[in-house]
Amino acid sequence: MTHIAQVGLGQWGKNLARNFDQLADLVWLCDVDDECRAQAAQSYPSAQVTSNFDDVLADDSVEAVVVATPVPTQYELARRALEAGKHVFVEKPPAMRGAEIEELCELAEERDLVLMPGHLLLYHPGVQKLKEIVDSGELGEVLYVYGNRQNLGTFRTNENALWSLGVHDLSVLLYLIEEEPIEVRAHGSAFLSKGVEDVVFCYLRFPSGKMAHMHLSWLDPHKIRRITVVGNERMAVFDDMERERKITVYDNWRTRTGDIYSPTVDSTEPLRRECEHFLRLVAGEGDPHKAARDAILVVRALDQLQASLETVAA
Ligand SMILES: NC(=O)c1ccc[n+]([C@@H]2O[C@H](COP(=O)([O-])OP(=O)(O)OC[C@H]3O[C@@H](n4cnc5c(N)ncnc54)[C@H](O)[C@@H]3O)[C@@H](O)[C@H]2O)c1
Repeated sequence: MTHIAQVGLGQWGKNLARNFDQLADLVWLCDVDDECRAQAAQSYPSAQVTSNFDDVLADDSVEAVVVATPVPTQYELARRALEAGKHVFVEKPPAMRGAEIEELCELAEERDLVLMPGHLLLYHPGVQKLKEIVDSGELGEVLYVYGNRQNLGTFRTNENALWSLGVHDLSVLLYLIEEEPIEVRAHGSAFLSKGVEDVVFCYLRFPSGKMAHMHLSWLDPHKIRRITVVGNERMAVFDDMERERKITVYDNWRTRTGDIYSPTVDSTEPLRRECEHFLRLVAGEGDPHKAARDAILVVRALDQLQASLETVAA
C-alpha cells in the first residue's frame, strides 16, 4: 500500500484523511493546530502526528504527500514536498499565480513525480457523463458553456468568490472546451469584507469562438451548482443540486417542445474517485503529468481573471 502523509487536517482535510486512510497507508499527519492534531491522533492511532512538516519530508518511507492547508500556503508546501522527492496531491487551487503552478509542474516533470490538483468536480460522475455527451457529438458543435455557483453563506475572508468557487467551474469549463481562453474579463464586488469579492461575474472567449460565463457568489438567495452546455443541435445541463437527475439533455434546440431525457449517472462519491485516481497515478497507471498540465490552464485563467477584476475595480 502507498505510504501517504497529509498536511492540513481542517474542515476539508478531514474528508481527505478519511478516504486516504481507507485506500492507502496513512503514515504521517501534520497540522500546526493542537486541537486538529489531537483529533487526528485519536482517529488514526497508527499514524505519526506532528506540527513540523520537515518530519514528514525527512521520512524516506513517505511516497506521497496530500496538501490541504489554506490556499496561500499550498504552493510552498507542495514545492517542498516535490523537492523532497514525494508525489503530491494538492487541494484546489494548487497555487495563486500562473508562474507558481508552472514551476510546480516543471519540478514534478523533471523528477518524474505526480502532481495532482484537487479539482474535485472532474471526478464527479455527472461531470464525466457531461464530458462523454459533449465528446460524442450528441450536442452538435458546442457554442457556449456557463456555470452557476451561488449560495448564501460560508463567507470567506482569505480568498474571494473567484478563487474559492470559480476554480471548480473553471476546471470543468476548460475540461469540456479543451482550449485556453484568449480573452477573459471579470467584474465583482466586495460587499461583506473589504477587498474580498463575494460576487463575481466572469466572461471567457476561446480561439474557436466558443464563449463561457461564470456567476459566482456566496451572497445569493439561491443555492445553485449548475453547468449548462449549449450546442448547435442539443443542450445539456449538469445540476448537482438534483438528487436523481444530475444530467438533463434537451433534445430540440429550436423550440421548447423537444424531448428531454436524463441518463443514468453513477453515484460513487467524487472524493473517493479523486483519491483513487491519485493513487493509481502514483502506482504508475496513466499519464502522471496530465492533471498538472491541466491545472496550469486553470490557475493561469484564474490569475488573468483576478487581474481583470482588479483593473475593473481600480
Ligand atoms: N475540493 C473541495 O471541494 C474543497 C472544499 C473545501 C476546501 N477545499 C480546499 O481545501 C483546503 C483546506 O481548506 P479547509 O476548509 O479544510 O481549511 P481549514 O482552515 O479548515 O483547514 C486548514 C488546516 O491547515 C492547517 N495549517 C495551516 N497552515 C499550516 C502549515 N503551514 N502546516 C501545517 N498545517 C497548517 C490549519 O491549522 C488547519 O487545520 C483549501 O485549499 C480549500 O480550497 C476544497
